[in-house]
Amino acid sequence: MSPQPALNRNDLRQYDLLADQWWEPSGEFAALHWIAASRGELLPAAPPEGGWLLDVACGGGLLAPHVPRGYRHVGIDLVESALALAAANGVETLRADALTLPFPDRSFHVVVAGEILEHVTDLDAVVAEICRVTRPGGWVIIDTIADTRWARLSLVAVAERLPGGPPRRCHDPELFVDPARLQELFAAGGVEMRFHGLAPSPLQYLRFAATRKGDVTMRRTRSLAGLYAGKGHRRPGGVGAAATSSDIEAALRGAT
Ligand SMILES: C[S@@+](CC[C@H](N)C(=O)[O-])C[C@H]1O[C@@H](n2cnc3c(N)ncnc32)[C@H](O)[C@@H]1O
Repeated sequence: MSPQPALNRNDLRQYDLLADQWWEPSGEFAALHWIAASRGELLPAAPPEGGWLLDVACGGGLLAPHVPRGYRHVGIDLVESALALAAANGVETLRADALTLPFPDRSFHVVVAGEILEHVTDLDAVVAEICRVTRPGGWVIIDTIADTRWARLSLVAVAERLPGGPPRRCHDPELFVDPARLQELFAAGGVEMRFHGLAPSPLQYLRFAATRKGDVTMRRTRSLAGLYAGKGHRRPGGVGAAATSSDIEAALRGAT
């Protein structure tokens, strides 16, 4: 059980209270490990000359083991304790808000936003920022939770009480994300997004619930009513050159 029942839903302080749980495969963030593995499968290979990947709200850096070779994995988040763990796991970190990404336009070959869109109070601004910092021809990978009755029941009322489910009061269902609206927002930013649903493998989950051991594969589903993932391509071309590695390195040093 989470030790912070007094906190409001979606209170960032819970990530400090649960900092020792990030890298516990069967701890409070177990499902984030399973989702990070499935997110990793959507990542394209890095360009031969190397590429830049931005992990928006990287948390403790759980995506790091799943990033293909050849990328520089940059992570931003608001919580220092999470950033310290991400850095210890090879992520180049910067404390920043997803609403105002501190990078030049057209910086990243890949931008990942895993389990963050359902936590932000200005979805339009965050999606616009993601599109802005993605290079033309680059990729955006997301996963989030749909604003449906089913998601409120299964992922909040029930899953918060199940082993491997999200920590209690982690989510504010008011912020859950309508897939059709999300698709429109990305399209407005030049990113054509395709979604699929995600659900844990039932047998593996039952074994995990009984033993608190073993990985759980997230399977693709057709339903977008609960947890869902997307991969989108930013249209090539357009006005303006991509940012250089020096530009991005300067932003990482806080020099822009
Ligand atoms: C559910 S965790 C997901 C972490 C990571 N993406 C993963 O999947 O393992 C949500 C993360 O979003 C971060 N966060 C919440 N609001 C944020 C914001 N406005 N800007 C940056 N990070 C934020 C939290 O600190 C937390 O690390």
